[in-house]
Amino acid sequence: MNEQMSGAFWSVGECMLELRPQANDTLLHAAAGDSYNTAVYLKRLAPAMPVRYVSALGDDAMSGLIRDHIRAEHVDDSLIDIRAGGTPGLYAIATDGGGERRFTYWRAQSAARAMLSAAHLERLGAELAGCSVLLLTGITLAILDDERRAALLSLAARVRAAGGWVALDNNYRPALWDVPSARQWMNRAARVCTHALFSFDDEALLQGDRSPAEALARIAAIGVPEVVLKLGADGCLAGGAAAGAVHVPALAVRAVDTTAAGDSFNAGYLARRLRGASGVKAAEFGCAVAAAVVAHPGAIIPATALPSLSNTEP
Ligand SMILES: Nc1ncnc2c1ncn2[C@@H]1O[C@H](COP(=O)(O)OP(=O)(O)O)[C@@H](O)[C@H]1O
Ligand SMILES: [Mg+2]
Repeated sequence: MNEQMSGAFWSVGECMLELRPQANDTLLHAAAGDSYNTAVYLKRLAPAMPVRYVSALGDDAMSGLIRDHIRAEHVDDSLIDIRAGGTPGLYAIATDGGGERRFTYWRAQSAARAMLSAAHLERLGAELAGCSVLLLTGITLAILDDERRAALLSLAARVRAAGGWVALDNNYRPALWDVPSARQWMNRAARVCTHALFSFDDEALLQGDRSPAEALARIAAIGVPEVVLKLGADGCLAGGAAAGAVHVPALAVRAVDTTAAGDSFNAGYLARRLRGASGVKAAEFGCAVAAAVVAHPGAIIPATALPSLSNTEP
């Protein structure tokens, strides 16, 4: 890890309370959300790196449960803005008779949408010199208003100007925003990021790319220094733009739940890149982490089921 990378990993977004109805009239709760999932897996894979979650929550009991989950994963919650009277996003997972999972969200009013107030931005700005890697996603941008989107991208630009990394996952969710806004802001974010960790399916849906090669060429033309294109069960393309990209296959596993496949891939990829590995080596590790995650139910799998980075070279 080089000098500039001795600071913390900041992940910005919304963490929701996940509710799973159980057979005995109870609800099992957990915390989840794309940017949070990546933060948790990064911390587990690179325990020496401080990981800080940037968001907003309310001061209610459900927000307290989310903070308990965050702290239990050794993720720092001190940059979360606690908003008086606010409430967090929630979602429920119900499994129907055929085993098909259905998600229901209550997130339209969540406190996370109000993160990055003037006071919050001042606190973040004061600590930004300690941020080596800033991660944001298409979902993070989607839930914010234009003023907050611009403020987030200017924080990201400051991290990059200071020599840090800005990782961007496209995670395009059509239900959260309209196509013109999504295109405009994702293109702006792509111009700021140093590492685009994009799922091809999301990119095809939002930008109309007809092939991974076409998507890679378009993203490279924006000037993103490092691009990975995730291809689901086909693995990913990494290690170079357009023609230079190498296909890294996924591991052959029986996928039982693909929730957080891309989020955990990001953590594996970045954790290994931070140790100095090449993009292709990092992608191989990202695929190994994601394979473990898809082979287990839930967004956050048991820590013991993850591959280890400490005995991986480099
Ligand atoms: N069925 C699968 N078997 C093995 N690995 C998988 C499978 N689905 C996804 N992965 C791994 O997870 C990574 C991310 O998956 P992808 O579906 O592209 O992202 P997202 O979850 O963001 O849509 C892939 O690059 C691959 O390594
Ligand atoms: Mg994804």
